[in-house]
Amino acid sequence: MTVTAFVHHKGGVGNTMLLQLLAGELARRGRQVLAVDLDPQANLSRRMGYQESQLENRVTVAEVIKTADPQLLMDRHLPCQWEEDWAQNIRLLPSRLELENRVPEAGIPGSWRRLHLALELARGAFDDVLIDLPPTMGHLFDLACCAADGLLLPTSPTYDGMRGTQRIIDTVNDPERRTALGLHAWIWGVILNGKRSGVADHAERIDQATARWGDLLWGHPITLRQPVASCEERAEPPQRTPGEAGVMIRAAGAAIADRYLADRQASAA
Ligand SMILES: Nc1ncnc2c1ncn2[C@@H]1O[C@H](COP(=O)(O)OP(=O)(O)OP(=O)(O)O)[C@@H](O)[C@H]1O
Ligand SMILES: [Mg+2]
Repeated sequence: MTVTAFVHHKGGVGNTMLLQLLAGELARRGRQVLAVDLDPQANLSRRMGYQESQLENRVTVAEVIKTADPQLLMDRHLPCQWEEDWAQNIRLLPSRLELENRVPEAGIPGSWRRLHLALELARGAFDDVLIDLPPTMGHLFDLACCAADGLLLPTSPTYDGMRGTQRIIDTVNDPERRTALGLHAWIWGVILNGKRSGVADHAERIDQATARWGDLLWGHPITLRQPVASCEERAEPPQRTPGEAGVMIRAAGAAIADRYLADRQASAA
């Protein structure tokens, strides 16, 4: 089982959308996927079919982290509600606002290892665990980094997007921090999303990103296309995007999944 955290430090760069895209593509290829919503905004939970009111009295990721109980996690993940056949291969550990109450627990020694511990039984049940995060670098970020084997960094071709990405890279690679938290995750890739054609600044930032991150960049920069966002509003997978935008986003998903699987195979060899 591979655990991947999707991390960003500038809001709205498509972190959640890209996680949905990869989850869908891996599921379509027959892999068993667990999507963990570690964002109190609970956008992933809604987009996989669960409104806030439906999760009010349910065990969510917040309780799983509080107890670090692997059995609780295994008992409480939910089916993804997308209509596609392959969506049966996706389970969701949902989130709700209560997750904010885990943040003050950051000071408790070892608390950052609780998600890692809770995932123990999932090892036999899933091929891929994908963790969604808010654009912060506090306790939730530490929980995800400690649980993860690798990190994917969605970003936008903008000054702030690139700065946020570099900040994460520097933080995760900092030797003192790695030792203090017991991290084994490394940065696996950066994914550029939200390119607007004809915007000179974007073209310039994409050149800079290519020069700076080289082989760490996964696939081609993904274009901003309204039908992708409309899909998300209706809680449909990005794969269901109609028209040319759909062709574009499905190709982007396939390229990301190809790279993910090729890298996993290479590291296992
Ligand atoms: N390539 C794209 N084309 C069109 N819309 C997109 C694209 N990528 C993301 N979006 C839309 O942009 C918005 C922000 O995306 P998303 O919520 O996935 O970002 P995020 O980085 O997870 O945000 P947050 O920081 O709030 O968690 C959403 O409405 C999403 O549907
Ligand atoms: Mg998000």
